[in-house]
Amino acid sequence: MEIVHTLRDLRLRLAGEGLVGLVPTMGSLHEGHLALVREASNHASCVVTSIFVNRLQFGPAEDFDRYPRDLEADTKRLASAGCQVVFAPTESEMYPSPQRYFVEPPSLQNELEGAVRPGHFRGVCTVVLKLFHMVQPQVAVFGKKDYQQWTLLKEMVESLALPIRMVPGETIRAEDGLALSSRNAYLSAEERAEAPHLQMALKKVANAMDTGSKINLNQIIEQESLTLQQRGWQVDYLTVRSQYALAEAQPKDRELVILGAARLGSTRLLDNLEYYRFVNPY
Ligand code: PAJ
Repeated sequence: MEIVHTLRDLRLRLAGEGLVGLVPTMGSLHEGHLALVREASNHASCVVTSIFVNRLQFGPAEDFDRYPRDLEADTKRLASAGCQVVFAPTESEMYPSPQRYFVEPPSLQNELEGAVRPGHFRGVCTVVLKLFHMVQPQVAVFGKKDYQQWTLLKEMVESLALPIRMVPGETIRAEDGLALSSRNAYLSAEERAEAPHLQMALKKVANAMDTGSKINLNQIIEQESLTLQQRGWQVDYLTVRSQYALAEAQPKDRELVILGAARLGSTRLLDNLEYYRFVNPY
């Protein structure tokens, strides 16, 4: 495995490579990221993992400065996961001059995560498009853990006719159900013990939906939000959307996703659960 820091070295290293797969990350890598690298190696002969904490996608009051960074530990993990090239550009390599051209995502960018983090997805889409041009991969892998990010990036690739196959990766969880996240490192022992309740709330919504058409979905969502609040969470949203472009869920939609984001102390956690509505054909 090779570690490169500049675009020039990246191009030299990738010259003549066959099928290149890219896994973009912000580092502080855990099993979720490594699963994406393994997935990428199923589709590509050369897997590039980028590590770059992208200032553009952080709001002014967010955790850009304290975001965990440990390139040495990250590269050790990547070597054992089947990654061939680590691309870890510096801030000045990625943004040699202030970024003044941006990707403007559709209005979904202002909903859910975007309602709480204005400009976030504009920053994500811009850096991912730039990484695509730098690495020029044929395949890119993203986690469904960040479902809205996955949805917006998949549409960006389609909409701009980028010659890249987008492959989703399943969410990797700890044994107690908590979705792995670099931000879990911020949780106190007590918060860590409470954290799986977000996923449990999503499951309760799914279970209630299983019971049939007579349920009042809004009421169940309200009840679950309230329960989380009583347990000490600040709930940003708990909602059911269509898997297709995350449009508002309609009664006829079968492929749904239950999405939740909530804060425990100063740590914001997000999770989701895909849900397939059973429609009796008779
Ligand atoms: P980051 O949060 O480092 O995540 C990198 C990739 O890992 C994303 O595709 C994310 O969805 C995926 N991921 C995170 N936790 C996961 C888990 N538990 N299971 C499976 N996949 C998981 O997402 C970003 O960075 C940035 O926004 C980025 C796309 C790199 C642009 O800066």
